[in-house]
Amino acid sequence: MKQGLLDQSCVATFDKAIKYELGHFYLYTHLANAMQTIGYFGAQEYFLAESKEEVQHYQKHIDFLNDLGNFTTLPTLVPEKVIPKTLEQALKLAYDNELDLLEYYRTMYNEEGKEYPEISEHLMFYLKTQREAVGFYGDMLARLSLVKDDSCGILLIDKELKKLA
Ligand SMILES: [Fe+2]
Repeated sequence: MKQGLLDQSCVATFDKAIKYELGHFYLYTHLANAMQTIGYFGAQEYFLAESKEEVQHYQKHIDFLNDLGNFTTLPTLVPEKVIPKTLEQALKLAYDNELDLLEYYRTMYNEEGKEYPEISEHLMFYLKTQREAVGFYGDMLARLSLVKDDSCGILLIDKELKKLA
């Protein structure tokens, strides 16, 4: 077995990041299923595509830890309890979760990056990904607020999401 080059408290910050990323895989699968039940098939496809990306984000952390000789066990995931009844509620859940993770990576970058500069380099991908996710869901929520309760407008946004999947 390789020698672990990161200390345990540092690995614990990765454990939390891994839990977030796999939790987002769960969240997007949940949102896709919820959108399917109310007929937003574009949003369903979009969230399914996102859920696959989250698994890649998780794997990048595992590969990074492996480079430095560290191994960690998988977290227990708790499914999202809130079942969104509208596209807006689904996008808001996505926005809130991505913002939460952006804030987590900012802190991780500032704290762990000082001791291990390679962590700063590794986290650049995640900071960019989180910033873009927050920007994207923010844009979608802004567009939804323009159409308010207009079904045609919401269905157009749903169609747009299908193209982005
Ligand atoms: Fe992610």
